[in-house]
Amino acid sequence: MRKTERLSSLQLDRAAKILVQGGLVAFPTETVYGLGAHATNASSVADIFRAKGRPSDNPLIVHLSDMNLAGTVCREVPELAARLMTALSPGPITLVLPKRESVLDLVTAGLDSVAIRVPRHPIAQELLRIAAIPVAAPSANRSGRPSGTTWQSVLDDLDGLIDAVVCDDSIDGIGLESTVLDLTSSPPQLLRMGAITIDDLRHFDGTIDWQVSASNDLVNSPGRRHPHYKPQAIVRLCDDPAEIPQQPLQAFIGLKAWQQAPQDSHIHISPDVADYANALYEFLRQADRSGAKTVWCQRVPPIGLGIALTDRLERAESRD
Ligand code: TXA
Ligand code: MG
Repeated sequence: MRKTERLSSLQLDRAAKILVQGGLVAFPTETVYGLGAHATNASSVADIFRAKGRPSDNPLIVHLSDMNLAGTVCREVPELAARLMTALSPGPITLVLPKRESVLDLVTAGLDSVAIRVPRHPIAQELLRIAAIPVAAPSANRSGRPSGTTWQSVLDDLDGLIDAVVCDDSIDGIGLESTVLDLTSSPPQLLRMGAITIDDLRHFDGTIDWQVSASNDLVNSPGRRHPHYKPQAIVRLCDDPAEIPQQPLQAFIGLKAWQQAPQDSHIHISPDVADYANALYEFLRQADRSGAKTVWCQRVPPIGLGIALTDRLERAESRD
């Protein structure tokens, strides 16, 4: 057991020191909370896998304070990568590039590539700047569970398993993980949908591909092999809440009011897709706390952020 320090956003010197000394620190980013460790310290990185219960074949994203540091972990930074980073970083985009030999196999799960991201959240920015090290950081949740989007949820999963959490109460994040784009394959391959959409990316390169159902998906995107975003309750999708059967202990999140909701239902109605995406993971956790047996999620139109939200909803529902 570790004693997990609760740090405020004014204690980033302390958080950075823990990281530099090899500890695990959860910190907010504009997407979801990350669980950070010194990326060049093998035992710290191993601790991430242990704390999360994460399969060792699922590689980690290396977080950098500035895109100019990409060359410290990547063997080459192709022209397309440089253009994307200039336009979109810092921000919710992760690029997979050829790795330098010095990058730990543990970080990349033995792949010849490394994923890099420069988060734009001011706390993440400042923490990375003070620590001045590359920080490997998956989402801060036990493996398979909905990603942590609040410090309270991070503690629900990881209290006593990590050294510190930076507690941030602002609620204006995206709520879904970054877009992951693999630039080592030709054509470039989108591995995970996020707030930056395939249409946004195709402005930079019209050939960028997205083939989630293709058989090579498992090779290129190790993250898709494992179950994700699962609350204890069963997740079911619906087009309209009117379809939901009248049963006790259910939860519903969506854009449309659930008129026939039984008294004990746990409900979140979002004014728009951005709020829905921002609320989803926390809602799945709250639904468990409310004792719901089934969580109903309304489908959204697959446009803009709705594409990434639909991806997460379908993966939360899938039984694999
Ligand atoms: O928004 C985010 O990306 C958050 C915040 C904390 O930055 N991080 C995050 O990390 O979602 P994680 O570990 O939960 O998801 C990382 C994804 C996984 O699907 C992993 O398989 C993929 O990135 N990935 C990492 N390195 C890779 C590589 N070298 N090749 C292919 N996929 C990679
Ligand atoms: Mg994750």
